[in-house]
Amino acid sequence: MLLVALPIFSCSLHRFGRNLKRTQYQPTMKNLSIKQLTKTYSNGVKAVDNLSLEIGTGMFGLLGPNGAGKSTLMRTIATLQRPDTGSIRFHDIDVMQDPMALRKVLGYLPQEFGVYPKVSAERLLAYFAKLKGVQSKQDRQTLIQKVLEVTNLYEVRKKHVSSYSGGMKQRFGIAQMLLSNPKLIIVDEPTAGLDPAERQRFLNILREIGTEHTVLFSTHIVDDVKELCHEMAIMNGGRILQQTTPEAATSHLEGQIWTKAIERHELDQMRATYTLLSSHYKRDNTLFIRIHSPEKPGPEFTLAKPNLEDAYFLALQSATATA
Ligand SMILES: Nc1ncnc2c1ncn2[C@@H]1O[C@H](COP(=O)(O)OP(=O)(O)OP(=O)(O)O)[C@@H](O)[C@H]1O
Ligand SMILES: [Mg+2]
Repeated sequence: MLLVALPIFSCSLHRFGRNLKRTQYQPTMKNLSIKQLTKTYSNGVKAVDNLSLEIGTGMFGLLGPNGAGKSTLMRTIATLQRPDTGSIRFHDIDVMQDPMALRKVLGYLPQEFGVYPKVSAERLLAYFAKLKGVQSKQDRQTLIQKVLEVTNLYEVRKKHVSSYSGGMKQRFGIAQMLLSNPKLIIVDEPTAGLDPAERQRFLNILREIGTEHTVLFSTHIVDDVKELCHEMAIMNGGRILQQTTPEAATSHLEGQIWTKAIERHELDQMRATYTLLSSHYKRDNTLFIRIHSPEKPGPEFTLAKPNLEDAYFLALQSATATA
């Protein structure tokens, strides 16, 4: 059975479907407010460290490397574990005081799944819909058809979920989550391990859902955030290093990213001399570095157009340098 938290409450038919339109992003009042949250595990690891974050409607990307504390933060918001200190509010729900109220409006897709049974997607969804209180068979069928269409699983609805690929299982996770029409959706690294086509399919589904909901989405893949999110935060060491938008993060670096072709043996020296953000080989085996510098670092450097990966690596490096 799924390890996904299943809020049980009466379910209204909702507006998911093929005709969902992308709406223009409008900054809104913040829906989810996290203040000074700290979570220490029993082994002494402080996985979330005095973290504050404000999140509005739409797709919010939480970008961070392995061990940054993303899953810890998400599990804590999802009320699966209690923080040491701090507060979490979602609209007028005080999550620490009333975790059940949050669970009723929450859809949570964890990083790791339980084992799926040998039951068709259609039957499993019908079972979940019943559990959630959708009494009428007709209502259940309509609802299930809608969530299967939104997640592009309609054609494979008769197949056992246990036989689904990783990406299909992820989409099934979203389908069962949508049965409840959640107001707050938390998805923890859903694209890790997906092939490019499945990843795109999954991102498209999140893009649709994100037009009407508050979606908190974690990843260590910079392109996920670039393609999908209106707002984002870079997280490491249990802290938010930067809360920004993908556009602001890159435009902020305009005129400050430089590239240069170097020899392989020069790499360490470049790293020691400059704020080296990344290095990559071109097809002809030339090694190029990207560095951050407010001024032109030397005659052989060329100004480059900043990208989100530059902003991400710079935030991680700056945090390490000041730690
Ligand atoms: N149940 C646990 N008990 C003890 N330490 C834990 C536990 N869960 C996570 N940690 C530690 O807390 C820190 C943050 O882990 P977390 O899983 O939240 O990071 P993450 O950003 O989700 O990483 P990943 O990208 O690898 O999923 C790590 O140092 C991890 O080893
Ligand atoms: Mg994680």
